[in-house]
Amino acid sequence: MNNTFLMWPGGKNWFVKHQSYRLPAQYNRYIDPFLGGGSVFFYMEPDKAILSDVNSELISTYLAIQQDWEGLDRNLRTHARKHNDAYYYTVRAQHPRTLVRIAARMIYLNRTCFNGIYRVNRQGEFNIPKGSKNTVLTGQEEFERRSVLLRNADIRCCDFEATIDEAQEEDFLFCDPPYAIQEEQNFVGYTQNLFHWRDQIRLANALERASRRNVKILMTNANHPSIRALYENREGFLLDEVSRYSSISGNSSGRKQYSELIVSANI
Ligand SMILES: C[S@@+](CC[C@H](N)C(=O)[O-])C[C@H]1O[C@@H](n2cnc3c(N)ncnc32)[C@H](O)[C@@H]1O
Repeated sequence: MNNTFLMWPGGKNWFVKHQSYRLPAQYNRYIDPFLGGGSVFFYMEPDKAILSDVNSELISTYLAIQQDWEGLDRNLRTHARKHNDAYYYTVRAQHPRTLVRIAARMIYLNRTCFNGIYRVNRQGEFNIPKGSKNTVLTGQEEFERRSVLLRNADIRCCDFEATIDEAQEEDFLFCDPPYAIQEEQNFVGYTQNLFHWRDQIRLANALERASRRNVKILMTNANHPSIRALYENREGFLLDEVSRYSSISGNSSGRKQYSELIVSANI
């Protein structure tokens, strides 16, 4: 299963397409503390997993797929049937409480909002206007298959450090944090809790502890001197720089080259 069902900032579809040879063939549990759209999880299809993210609506969406994919499917089809400009803004203003409704709203807004990216403001509110895409059902839902895959996953809403500290020898830890760098103290985050430089330091320390426990580690990050300096002098970490092209806002004339850093240990 290659594609995720969500468009997510920093999504790792490019990684599974071009860098999957870096993933370990043998491991015990798959652990992903910055889950987002879950590209690597859906690509690897692990038997056992711990999946977490600090974004509670995102985690509710995964729980809805795990626990009631049929209810979610029904709800999303209702959104698809009713979709128009006015309906978009009605749904955007709603605050549903059940897992299925939270999930259907999130997927609906993710697919129809401007630029297809679900982001919340500092108050934790989703305030993106409607976009030009009107495709609510993309055919990539595959909720039933995803639900089977998520059956043996422990899914949690929490900060990354608690999840990393649970990783044990032979577990595979895939880490894809927001790309905060030292100069950008006010990096715009994915939830109302911004990811700061101090979080990058906290992450490096947690990964060093995990590496000493012989956890297999793969992290993607910004290829920036401040990030490289965080890992260069830590024992057991390998740093590799990779280039990739990406289009900006789907505009092919705006293709830009990005350089990313891949940090690994015990693989
Ligand atoms: C680059 S995205 C992950 C993308 C994902 N790998 C994919 O392929 O879609 C980073 C994720 O980290 C989450 N995040 C931000 N701060 C966090 C924190 N302190 N603890 C855990 N997750 C956090 C964000 O909500 C976001 O989903």
